[in-house]
Amino acid sequence: MTHRIAVIPGDGVGTAVTDAALRVLDAAAPGLIQTEIFPWSCDYHLKTGRMMPEDGIAQLAAFDAIFLGAVGWPETVPDAVSLHGLLLPIRKAFRQYANIRPHRLLPGVQGPLRKEGFDILCIRENTEGEYSGAGGRVHQGTAQEVAVETAIFTRTGVERILRFAFEQAMARRGKLASVTKSNAQRHSMVFWDEVTRAVAADYPQVEVTSYHVDAIAARMVMAPETLDVVVASNLFGDILTDLGAAIQGGLGYAASANLNPDRDAPSMFEPVHGSAPDIAALGIANPIAAIWSAAMMLEHLGEAGGAARIMAAVEATTAGGIGTVAGADTTSAITQAILNALEAAS
Ligand code: IPM
Ligand code: MN
Repeated sequence: MTHRIAVIPGDGVGTAVTDAALRVLDAAAPGLIQTEIFPWSCDYHLKTGRMMPEDGIAQLAAFDAIFLGAVGWPETVPDAVSLHGLLLPIRKAFRQYANIRPHRLLPGVQGPLRKEGFDILCIRENTEGEYSGAGGRVHQGTAQEVAVETAIFTRTGVERILRFAFEQAMARRGKLASVTKSNAQRHSMVFWDEVTRAVAADYPQVEVTSYHVDAIAARMVMAPETLDVVVASNLFGDILTDLGAAIQGGLGYAASANLNPDRDAPSMFEPVHGSAPDIAALGIANPIAAIWSAAMMLEHLGEAGGAARIMAAVEATTAGGIGTVAGADTTSAITQAILNALEAAS
């Protein structure tokens, strides 16, 4: 069965890493993927005044999955406009409530820690919390100005992400870290902890520990090998997954899936990194984060074999010392090495 994928390369390095991911997908799962490219980006905004057409979400809804490169080009479109015009509405409209981000060292990659052997799966709530967009500003530009940004936690939203995380923990090493800050945030995070305890009752096999977000940030540096699945609210998860990316060697390795676990709308796959304007013209963006995200997409589409082939080729490539040092290899050299590894394994 072929899978129809909406591809949004986006801005900056997004186009080059998307191109790399599509080439690898084609080699790993020949004939299985049918793509349509959508040029929605900051350039598109310059031409049309919008990041995507008014019916953009409706156009995407017909696809089996979405692959996204990166969004943002602050020189021409403010980030708050570009992200709220494309990436964030897709996550919300398609109820992609589980943002999955694996953090482990690929063979041959030297992280900044003097440690190996950690394997963390971060699960970030992706549709509400601190990203709800509820709030406003009054008395703008005056000394009395007020800005309010309200975090919204619903029982439905909190319970479903925790349940999803417990399921992931069951499928892995049986350990779940629930990220809180209930010592300071006595409404939302006390609620989060209550729901964690309630859901835990259904998963007696899972060893669950609540960590304050500041403490788990330190733990991810000092003792990352003690963590298995980590579940966090939207903003806490955002911050911790950049830390996760850092300990795995950098954003060039950090993959992500924005999953709609109910499968009643497409899920979206994207590298964690942004458009990287500073290196966008240099041809040295690491495509591994995007390629790993493409493997996660195949997995989600039921093509576990193709996903495993991609990951094996990526690992063979980094084990051979290619794509292991930032900027040392070009995007196309890393992509070619992965394509060669795929070919060699077939
Ligand atoms: C991410 C990014 C986005 C987020 C930005 C670009 C809005 O940092 O996917 O982690 O905060 O979710
Ligand atoms: Mn982020």
